[in-house]
This record gives sequence, C-alpha cells and structure tokens, in this order.
Amino acid sequence: MTDGWRAVAAPPALRPGDAHVWRVRLDAADELPALRALLSDDERARMDRFHRPADRVRFGVAHGWLRRVLAAYLDAAPSALAFGVGEHGKPFLRDAALEFNLSHSGDLALVAVAAHGPVGVDVERWDRAVECLELAERFFSPAELGALHALREDDARVVEGFFATWSRKEAYLKATGHGITRGLRHFDVPFAPGGAAALVADRLDVEATGRWAITGLAAAPGYSAALVAAAPLRALNLLEPPATGWGSR
Ligand SMILES: CC(C)(COP(=O)(O)OP(=O)(O)OC[C@H]1O[C@@H](n2cnc3c(N)ncnc32)[C@H](O)[C@@H]1OP(=O)(O)O)[C@@H](O)C(=O)NCCC(=O)NCCS
Repeated sequence: MTDGWRAVAAPPALRPGDAHVWRVRLDAADELPALRALLSDDERARMDRFHRPADRVRFGVAHGWLRRVLAAYLDAAPSALAFGVGEHGKPFLRDAALEFNLSHSGDLALVAVAAHGPVGVDVERWDRAVECLELAERFFSPAELGALHALREDDARVVEGFFATWSRKEAYLKATGHGITRGLRHFDVPFAPGGAAALVADRLDVEATGRWAITGLAAAPGYSAALVAAAPLRALNLLEPPATGWGSR
C-alpha cells in the first residue's frame, strides 16, 4: 500500500511516466466562498442542486480544488479552465493534454494527474452497513469473489478487502473512461494489498493487462483508494495542499 502524503504549495515537475495524486479534505465550509467563485456556471448550478448543505460544501470544495490543482500545472487561472466530457462521462481538459481524474467519498477527494496517458482514481469510505459479500456476488469477478470469500471468517478483513477491490475496479473503469457501461465482472484486479501491480485480466480487451498499472493508496483510516495509470508508471507522488499558502492565484 502506498502511503506518505506530502504538503506542497505548488506541483512538483510532472515527468513522462509520473503520476501525482492530490488529497483534499472536503469538510472545509470556510473555504467554500473562495472555491465557489472559481466554478463555472454549470458547476455552480450542480452544486446548488444538492439539498443538504454538507453535500453542497463537498461538491464545491472538490471541484474548486480540482480547478486550483489543474491550473497550477498549466500556469492558468483556475476559473479559466474549460472541461469537456467524453462519450461515457469522463471529464477532460479542452485546451490542454494534461490527463486527470477526480474521485470523492465522505470527507475526502483525490485528484490524479498524469501527462503520459489516461488515469483513473477512486476513493471509497468504508460503509459498515454494506452487505459486502452480497454486493461482491453481484459485481466482482469469480476470481475476486473467491479471494473475498477466503476472508469470510473475519468481518473486518472482509470490509477492507471489499472496499479495496471495489476502489481498484472503479479506478480501472475510470481510467479507461468506460465507467460501468461494460459491467464490472469481465476483468480482475489484483486482490492482495500492496503497491503497484498490473491488471490481472480483462476478458473484453486481452491486451489491457500490459497497459495499466494499479496502485492501492492509503488515503486515510477507514477509506480505500486506488490509482490506475498507463503502464509503465515510473514514479508516484502523493501530495496535498498545505493548510495555508497555496500557489499564487
Ligand atoms: C464515474 C463512475 C465510474 C464512478 O463514480 P463514483 O465512484 O460513484 O464516484 P467518484 O467520486 O469516484 O467519481 C466521480 C467523478 O468521476 C468523474 N467521472 C464521471 N464519469 C466518469 C467516467 N466515465 N470515467 C472517469 N471519470 C468519470 C467525474 O469527475 C465525477 O465527479 P463529479 O460527479 O463530481 O463531476 C460511475 O460510472 C459510477 O456510477 N460507478 C458505479 C458506482 C456503483 O455502482 N457503486 C456501487 C458501490 S457498492
């Protein structure tokens, strides 16, 4: 599992083969006015549609920081970034080749950035009310389900194994941009906890295994997270904005 987040006021150099993952706390209502001001009209409208104030804060902070982080790589103003949306909903930058992906769950957002190829990131807060084995029966591949079943005597390991696997599967779907349009059972992600690993199999795209690197991330206690980046992944930086003193804009 990759750990070791570093607070930095600006992005370090992003070389070919590098991926950066930024961790942002979303329980930051005091930051909302400044971050909301960076959003597009569409993003503001989406934010305002949330009924619960806490959800509005999470959305506004996540998307405001997404703009701040990407703008810092591009030396642009955060509010000037223009996003498009791919066929299955994956957002992209209209005027820059920088690859990115956003995920949010509970009080955390992760933003993955790379220059050499697509990235997908997923963070999932553990929900102990979830029937893990039942959901795994519906969504996991036979190999993944077998690995989870092997832990069934130990509830805590089942929860951790379920959300770790789930985050890897989502991150893969988000890297390819297909989302859940092709289902979830045609591919196998590595099950064992650990750092970088390859995709185990994709029965709809047999050459995919060599194309993707999967890394489990220690986002925070009670969360599972994963990054999927184009292989080979040369170096991964885990970053977060400092409490004060971010960038120049
Ligand atoms: C996007 C998707 C792949 C993942 O969504 P998710 O895990 O619920 O949410 P995340 O926070 O990780 O990702 C959402 C972000 O991904 C990005 N995104 C949206 N569609 C995407 C796609 N097709 N590919 C990559 N990224 C996408 C957006 O930035 C989105 O942020 P926004 O909604 O604030 O604009 C979606 O297809 C989905 O709904 N997955 C199924 C979820 C599910 O069935 N869960 C059951 C849990 S047991």
